[in-house]
Amino acid sequence: MTHSVIKAAVATTALLLALSPAAVLSADGEKLYQTKTCSTCHGKDGKSPIMPMYPKIAGQNQAYTLQQLKDIKSGARNNGQSAAMKGVMHLVSDDEMQALSEYIATMAP
Ligand code: HEC
Repeated sequence: MTHSVIKAAVATTALLLALSPAAVLSADGEKLYQTKTCSTCHGKDGKSPIMPMYPKIAGQNQAYTLQQLKDIKSGARNNGQSAAMKGVMHLVSDDEMQALSEYIATMAP
């Protein structure tokens, strides 16, 4: 009896430890999305952009989003509208782009 309680406690702790990095990342991503001005242009929900020609990004694939963030930051992506966003990309590091892309993937499309 005591033994199985300990086993359950150990299993629960292991589960929490396994879950926490992802939980921390998505929390960071959510915060970064507000503090790094992303929400200003793309909308709080990622699908109500301030300009009709700005993209909806909510629910987009994580890997695709991360690549676009890197490319807009580096200038490799240079579409008609990307200059507008490039101006804020000095605010975000590689780690922050990772967290943002993970958060954006969790937003309801
Ligand atoms: C000043 C307005 C502005 C801000 C601030 C801004 N963006 Fe953008 N974003 C744009 C525009 C405009 C585009 C379209 C660029 C193009 O035409 O290539 C874009 C494109 C994107 C794309 C690519 C979408 C696709 O479908 O390919 C992603 C992802 C994105 N933004 C995420 C972010 C994140 C994350 C932040 C915060 C770090 C951010 N944006 C801040 C205006 C902005």
